[in-house]
Amino acid sequence: MNDLDQLVQDANCDFARAAMPADLENAKARYLGKSGRLTEQLRALAALSPDEKKARGAMINAAKQQVEASLHARRQALADAELEAQLKAESLDVTLPGRHRGTGAVHPISRTMERVEAIFGSMGFEVADGPEIETDWYSFTALNNPENHPARSMQDTFYVDMKDTQGRWLNLRPHTSPMQVRHALAHAKKYADQATMPDIRVIAPGRTYRVDSDATHSPMFHQVEGLWVGENVSFKDLKVMYLNFIQAFFETTDLKLRFRPSYFPFTEPSAEIDIMFESGPLEGRWLEVSGSGQVHPQVIRNMGLDPERYIGFAFGSGIDRLAMLRYGISDLRLFFDGDLRFLTQFK
Ligand code: PHE
Repeated sequence: MNDLDQLVQDANCDFARAAMPADLENAKARYLGKSGRLTEQLRALAALSPDEKKARGAMINAAKQQVEASLHARRQALADAELEAQLKAESLDVTLPGRHRGTGAVHPISRTMERVEAIFGSMGFEVADGPEIETDWYSFTALNNPENHPARSMQDTFYVDMKDTQGRWLNLRPHTSPMQVRHALAHAKKYADQATMPDIRVIAPGRTYRVDSDATHSPMFHQVEGLWVGENVSFKDLKVMYLNFIQAFFETTDLKLRFRPSYFPFTEPSAEIDIMFESGPLEGRWLEVSGSGQVHPQVIRNMGLDPERYIGFAFGSGIDRLAMLRYGISDLRLFFDGDLRFLTQFK
């Protein structure tokens, strides 16, 4: 082996040993750098005769090409290895199940309210919203239920030890009925300077409160109030409208409606509305879903309207009760326990 073959072999070994690009560049300098072994060989040519120079020069160049080829090959190998390592480190396992936040769901009571609003909306009813902390006046007095009247105890009201700016006692509304006079006053005011007023046709869904708690009663529950007042409204309208609502709500015509005489201070006559399914798991049992009645003339007066001219009816239905019947739920408290095992069934 001549000295140049030895040099090429040494270079190959050095390059192969270089584990990092920086090691490789150091090794390169030892052969091809300013005072590298190959550079020194080329410099030594100067001392030779022209013929020797030609022969030796060709050999050195051949060796140099081999060294450079080996260098490039090693450079490439190191770069490939680096890329490979990087890809491995940053690799994604696309077969892993994704992490996600979990989708929420609309609460069954909200869902039921939206459903009730949509159905009454399609029948031309406005949707109104009222305060849950009410005054004594709207909750009772305006509804023909005077102070100290025993009918006030029909609802086990949460009274608040506080008065509003007009000196009216506050309470957590025990029903959505305060919305009857509240909404009608606002409506009548809007049309006060006109000869005729469009019918008041509104529903007011929302939270209500009573001192009451068992499987079918919760201290916080939900009602939807309905009110239709105009110059030519009759009990027949209530019956037809409510039947249409119930059929749409339960998506069946396979049920019956019954108006059972009852008493409320703010309606006369008054009736409880019962329904009976003619098929399915609840078949054959009368189920109470609503109070209702023709709006009492005194309440019409409190709405700022003339009872000789205006007549109407109102109803107040239990939203929780409707939801329980629709979804087949036997304990009302499930709605409010916040148990995900229950709630996720409504996704
Ligand atoms: N507010 C009554 C209740 O909570 C229901 C009702 C509303 C009755 C409207 C008649 C008219 O029991």
